[in-house]
Amino acid sequence: MVPSTSVGRGARNERTPADAVPERLLGPDAVASAFEAHVHAEDVVRVRKILAYSIAGWVSSAALDFITVYMLGQGRLSVPLGIRAVAALAFLAVLLRLHVEPAPRPPLFRALNLLVLVGTCASLALIAVEQGTIATVYTHGVSVTLVAYGLAFQEPWRRGIWLAGLPVATFFAILLGAALFSPRIHADLATTASLGAFLQNTIMIAMTGVFVVTGGHVVHQMRRQAFSQRGLGRYELRERIARGGMGEIWRAHHAGLDREVAVKIVRPDRASQPGASARFTREVRALVELKHPCTVRILDHGVTNDGLRYFAMELLEGETIDARLSGEQKLEPRRAAEIARDVARALDEAHLRGIIHRDVTPKNLFLVKLATGEEIVKVLDFGIAKDRGDAEASTLTAHGQIIGTPTYMAPEQARGTEVDARTDVYALGAVLFRMLCGRPPFEKGSQAETLQAHVWDAPPKPSWIADVPPELETIVLRCLRKAPAERFATAGALADALEAFLRAPLAARPAAREPDAPIDAAQQTLDAPLSRP
Ligand SMILES: Nc1ncnc2c1ncn2[C@@H]1O[C@H](COP(=O)(O)OP(=O)(O)O)[C@@H](O)[C@H]1O
Ligand SMILES: [Mg+2]
Repeated sequence: MVPSTSVGRGARNERTPADAVPERLLGPDAVASAFEAHVHAEDVVRVRKILAYSIAGWVSSAALDFITVYMLGQGRLSVPLGIRAVAALAFLAVLLRLHVEPAPRPPLFRALNLLVLVGTCASLALIAVEQGTIATVYTHGVSVTLVAYGLAFQEPWRRGIWLAGLPVATFFAILLGAALFSPRIHADLATTASLGAFLQNTIMIAMTGVFVVTGGHVVHQMRRQAFSQRGLGRYELRERIARGGMGEIWRAHHAGLDREVAVKIVRPDRASQPGASARFTREVRALVELKHPCTVRILDHGVTNDGLRYFAMELLEGETIDARLSGEQKLEPRRAAEIARDVARALDEAHLRGIIHRDVTPKNLFLVKLATGEEIVKVLDFGIAKDRGDAEASTLTAHGQIIGTPTYMAPEQARGTEVDARTDVYALGAVLFRMLCGRPPFEKGSQAETLQAHVWDAPPKPSWIADVPPELETIVLRCLRKAPAERFATAGALADALEAFLRAPLAARPAAREPDAPIDAAQQTLDAPLSRP
């Protein structure tokens, strides 16, 4: 039911009251999406089996009808058999639907289950009406239905009351309502012995219902707790950091290493696409090979038995460039150039291994403050979870969603034609533009207009918008050329150009330095520890 690996006992025992764990560690949203998906997947499989057995039981309990008609002399046989047959056909239809992929989503699934439960109890009541008594053996059928419900579902009590209560209410509504039309039922209600038996049966059903609903609730809580403690593989999820289009990022704890990591979980609905699993594994394996210090370090990856794919990476402390630039904020040109150079080097390594990032944006670049006070950039989100199925180069997913971020998207990616390393060069150029100018090269009202601008419009010169050194401006504009061939051929070449710019001011521009001399000098000192060999 759950993956074989789990959180170590030691870690579990350190915690205080067991039932406080899910909320405290995971927060209200915590288990929600992942747990609901997990429970739903299990429920569908279980209900398929239980419903198949229930239909067999429903058909074979026609024996009751024969006994009631031939031995007790109550009613006609054709009516109960007819009701039974119609109900059985409906249940079979539900069973077939449960076996059709994709499995029904939770709302439809609940409606189908309710249909079966209510249908069973309504049929039982109609048969009892035909037999003309409220003190009927068919009342036990309601209890049996509740037991079947209890086996099939473990719902929180609020939902359980409805799922179990509605069928029971239907049974009594039909039986008592029939008193208005059927003289026999009316007379039976006035008979003390029948009324007594009826009340006894009612109490028994109520008790069964209470046990089934509360028991289901308790089991639900236990499953939820087990799920949250189990976490994902060796990781215990602690707090959700972000939720994006493709998945969720969690702060998680590895009990064995006693280390905090970030875990990215691919959203269950994305994960179910055909071939997604193999693709995911292939891509994570490639990323694990990336060694550049400015690429986020991938530590581990896995798939749970219920099909949630995840991978663990180093947990970063800091903020994204997007957060740093919030509003119209700019970065000092040298700092922007350093960041872009480091990102370009990280991308270059990925490109050499055949990995194109495809989504270089300020949200996917993370500024990490080290204990020494220096700050380094880390490239995140190497398109692992992105739908790259058949439409390898397509901009749109099957659902018409854009892959990548229009604001930073190269013309060839916007068009949906082939992408390569120079596509990332373009996007990085657009990010550098934003870091220098406080706004991206194209700001349009809609995504479609932005994409068109990338394809057709010349970008504004950064120096029109902000104080950008001409050498740096040349680099930015070269990245933003429409034709890939006119850009830097590789991210490495871009990094070299930025490096040359960063080295230049000291030697080549003594005149320009005059007014800025103290700042420049201070900057150089500040910068010194930042540049890596
Ligand atoms: N290793 C990490 N450590 C800390 N925060 C992270 C880490 N990875 C991602 N994040 C945060 O989660 C956000 C989304 O992550 P990302 O990998 O870009 O997912 P998505 O596919 O949803 O865009 C990032 O912008 C960042 O704020
Ligand atoms: Mg992202």
